[in-house]
Amino acid sequence: MTDSNPEPRGQLQAAPESFIPADLVSAISAKGINAERRGLIKGAFASALATMAGVTTAAGGDPNIVTLPEWSTTLGKSVATHPYGQPSRYESNIIRRQSPGLTQTDQASVAFTPLQSLFGMMTPSGLHFERHHQGWVDIDPRRHRFMINGLVKTPTVFTLEDILRLPSVSRMHFLECGANTALEWGNSAVPTVQYTHGMLSGSEWTGVPLSLLLERVGIDLSKAKVILAEGADGSSMTRTINIANALDDCLVAYGQNGEMLRPEQGYPLRLVVPGVQGVSWVKWLRRIEVGDAPYATKDESSHYVDLMPDGLQRQYTAIQEAKSVITSPSGGQRLKNSGYYCITGLAWSGRGSVKKVEVSVDGGRNWREAQIQGPVLQKMTTRFTLDWVWRGEPALLQSRVTDSTGYVQPQRAALLEVRGARSIYHNNAIQTWRVNRAGEVDNVQLG
Ligand code: MTE
Repeated sequence: MTDSNPEPRGQLQAAPESFIPADLVSAISAKGINAERRGLIKGAFASALATMAGVTTAAGGDPNIVTLPEWSTTLGKSVATHPYGQPSRYESNIIRRQSPGLTQTDQASVAFTPLQSLFGMMTPSGLHFERHHQGWVDIDPRRHRFMINGLVKTPTVFTLEDILRLPSVSRMHFLECGANTALEWGNSAVPTVQYTHGMLSGSEWTGVPLSLLLERVGIDLSKAKVILAEGADGSSMTRTINIANALDDCLVAYGQNGEMLRPEQGYPLRLVVPGVQGVSWVKWLRRIEVGDAPYATKDESSHYVDLMPDGLQRQYTAIQEAKSVITSPSGGQRLKNSGYYCITGLAWSGRGSVKKVEVSVDGGRNWREAQIQGPVLQKMTTRFTLDWVWRGEPALLQSRVTDSTGYVQPQRAALLEVRGARSIYHNNAIQTWRVNRAGEVDNVQLG
């Protein structure tokens, strides 16, 4: 399957030697590349240099250096052009996309984050993935109400203004749909990391700790075992969350990356449930009921359950286990020439933080420890990088995370052995990208 909508950064090019600090070349050599191969690396750098734009030695020089472009000789545009900033028009292909592996529908839908084109650990709000069971809704904040009832002393209705006046906190957390990487359970591998892992995003969320609100309405801690969170959209999304989670680090959030939530992300209020699968992060939050037993609603009894090999269903598997993926080079991209590449990707764990990421370029036979690009935060995406010299030979790229509990991300075969292949949700297996001699990268499943 090919991606009909290629990206500006679909073609990757090796960096020339003059751009790489000498100590990095020797560090790469020291980490397993012997002296005899050093010549090869230098050769790779030299050939990369020759193809690099901007260092051409053609007679007359590069016209882009010799002649001033129009933007250097004319007036710039007015600040009035974009009262709200937009990405460069040359980046207009970096967008959320619907998967070629899924049925396209108008309302019940998902659009994936273009992980292959992003940097760092945060997701721009406009590229945060979207997953709606009944389309997104455009709520008038003045008419929106949020109620807490059930096992509480004072059932209370809040307006948005009420919530905005309360003490708030801002925390960075990843949000991953339990169905992320679902198509990889079978053999229907989709072409790019956008579709394999793009139901993952990382944001800074701002809101009121749920514990504070529950305390304020007088939660009956002697009886309370769970809460039920309910959304205001037509899907009547409802999820049971255990009371320990609810009183721990959950937020009733209104902010995302420094501004109000985007409508697609639940404007004006959503529940943030760090480390837990996305379905529990109820958007357009209108009600929380405190109860003494799980509610077994449709969204937890028939959806988001895992069918095990013995025919039984796993239910309430809330936590997103540790997972990582290489985002570049990744499926659909192409290495144009041999030489130095920076392998990069994301790692995360719903049980804590990322302790270590290892990368293999030979399908898991040998592993090297990747560099972690901080900060490393609890239940947040973490960026990793690894220096790699590609010598034009086939390679199988994999990453493997170990989290702060010591849990190690499993190979696909190991996960299938325990879980079978009938699940949709909670696939945290190691992902493999195959590089062929032509430098083309595609998605393969090992084991
Ligand atoms: N909340 C409501 N009210 N309605 C929904 O359809 N979808 C859930 C969850 N909260 C949903 C919802 C699912 S399945 C996921 S994965 C996340 O929201 C996705 O959040 P996002 O669209 O902000 O990425």
